[in-house]
Amino acid sequence: MLDATRDSEDRMRQFVADASHELRTPLTTLRGYAELHAGRVEDPDTADALRRIRAEATRMHRLVEDLLTLTSLDRATLHLGPVDVRRLLDDVASDLQVAQPERLVTVETAPGVRLVADEERLTQAVMALGTNALRHTPVTAAVRLTAYATGGEVVVEVSDDGPGIPPEELARVWDRFARVSQGRAGGGTGLGLAIVAGIVTAHGGRYAALSPPQGGVTFRLVLPAGSQAEGP
Ligand SMILES: Nc1ncnc2c1ncn2[C@@H]1O[C@H](COP(=O)(O)OP(=O)(O)OP(=O)(O)O)[C@@H](O)[C@H]1O
Ligand SMILES: [Mg+2]
Repeated sequence: MLDATRDSEDRMRQFVADASHELRTPLTTLRGYAELHAGRVEDPDTADALRRIRAEATRMHRLVEDLLTLTSLDRATLHLGPVDVRRLLDDVASDLQVAQPERLVTVETAPGVRLVADEERLTQAVMALGTNALRHTPVTAAVRLTAYATGGEVVVEVSDDGPGIPPEELARVWDRFARVSQGRAGGGTGLGLAIVAGIVTAHGGRYAALSPPQGGVTFRLVLPAGSQAEGP
């Protein structure tokens, strides 16, 4: 029974991966034509229509890339190695700072916090949380990246002083395509946190989102410090 479920999950995953892959080429063509003709048309309504076709094709391209990432995330695809968490957080913080120079972004972590992980994937996860803070909170809200080691695990947190997420929405933010109703900025695919969850799960870790009544959100990732990422 378990084998049958797993088999059908594997086939569904393969189908999504194949379909996403097949969608890449026509999307690139669509975008290419829209770009080519955007500068040639005189009529403002047609120019506007082409601009919108291009923007939507770009958005769909991103969606397809996110779907491909989501289907490829499992333990077997991780490239594990030693990771200096302080350095990783410093790198993400400086990328966030470049993206939004007026935002206060701080890193708080003791030196020497290390773990065995896929550095690229972990960076992608922390970056997705940081980008969410930039995109879904006002620029006046500070963003903090923290990490500490405890009992064989490493806890990484991304917190902000934004408006927070209502309790009834908090549990479903990790779901695929979830977007909270009062989200400030549109344009995202709603797959960001599902990818973060997939990355953490592939590492054998856990994740949580906390939003106290006084506001702000803390996204917490708890990862095994050693290599726990083998096995079924
Ligand atoms: N720091 C935050 N403060 C408030 N709301 C947030 C925060 N981070 C995420 N959210 C809410 O959770 C939703 C889901 O986030 P998620 O990253 O999965 O999707 P997204 O940011 O909308 O799109 P993308 O796929 O481009 O990341 C967001 O749309 C937003 O409403
Ligand atoms: Mg996001």
